[in-house]
Amino acid sequence: MMDVKMLCCAVLFPLQILLCVLKAAARRLMPHKRRDLGVDVVLITGGGRGIGRHLAKEFAKQGAKKIILWGRTEKCLRETCEEISLTGTECHYFVCDVGNREEVYEQAKVVREKVGDVTILVNNAAVVHGKSLMNSDDDALLKTQHINTLGQFWTTKAFLPRMLELRHGHVVCINSILSLSSIPGAIDYCTSKASAYAFMESLTLGLLDCPGVDCTTILPFHTDTEMFQGMRVRFPQLFPPLNPEMVAHRTVDAVRTNTAFVVLPWTMHFLVILKRSAF
Ligand SMILES: NC(=O)c1ccc[n+]([C@@H]2O[C@H](COP(=O)([O-])OP(=O)(O)OC[C@H]3O[C@@H](n4cnc5c(N)ncnc54)[C@H](OP(=O)(O)O)[C@@H]3O)[C@@H](O)[C@H]2O)c1
Repeated sequence: MMDVKMLCCAVLFPLQILLCVLKAAARRLMPHKRRDLGVDVVLITGGGRGIGRHLAKEFAKQGAKKIILWGRTEKCLRETCEEISLTGTECHYFVCDVGNREEVYEQAKVVREKVGDVTILVNNAAVVHGKSLMNSDDDALLKTQHINTLGQFWTTKAFLPRMLELRHGHVVCINSILSLSSIPGAIDYCTSKASAYAFMESLTLGLLDCPGVDCTTILPFHTDTEMFQGMRVRFPQLFPPLNPEMVAHRTVDAVRTNTAFVVLPWTMHFLVILKRSAF
């Protein structure tokens, strides 16, 4: 009896996989229905500058109800907040270091009391220490892991439970193509991003059974912000840095079309495949 059951499973499993692949392909070919952001309260970590600032502007442009910015530098947060408020979208900012667990939970409470329930959480804040392992002191290495990886654990733990209660929410991670294909000289960053990728993959799978709550992970290539300024890229004509406005636009679109993983530009898929076959 057991053998017959096992045999059925063995036959059905590849068919199930094929069905999933066909469904995914059909979904890609169909025109996407875009989610209306009119009821959404969006919190963006690192929203004061860089890609985060463009994300805030893009979410506002595409109709989000309220925008909340988190970051460490009040001046940047205030300036971005003022710019968004001028467009007519309600915007708030709070100084919060996402690498500090107590501060995240404390500020999450303040956000809920002062602004309301967050329905889209964008984990964007990150740092890069960018030295070799032997030239880095332990505190600097720990700081990158706290901000880039653990920060996402704290923010998600703070806001996800309410999204699940409301059956309405989205967790977004601005990751990096370096999470799938590391480079030398940024060992702290690559490690933290690979860990953040595993976090999002696990979360995405875990939320498949939770209606109304979804995830999006964005994996951009080198983007023109302060983060990697001065970084030398081989063949810069072939691989120019991405424009942060474009990254923000594709991110908001991915949320609206409920796309789980986006590699930017799509040609970077080849890099990952090449790397896998090279080792
Ligand atoms: N630039 C690239 O080439 C590139 C490529 C792929 C992926 N990404 C990813 O895109 C995201 C945004 O990067 P970016 O290029 O916009 O970098 P950026 O210009 O250096 O901005 C980083 C943002 O993170 C915030 N931040 C840093 N530490 C923080 C902390 N402890 N708590 C709260 N906020 C903090 C910063 O604000 P404060 O300093 O005010 O706190 C700033 O708003 C990151 O996740 C990065 O890994 C960037």
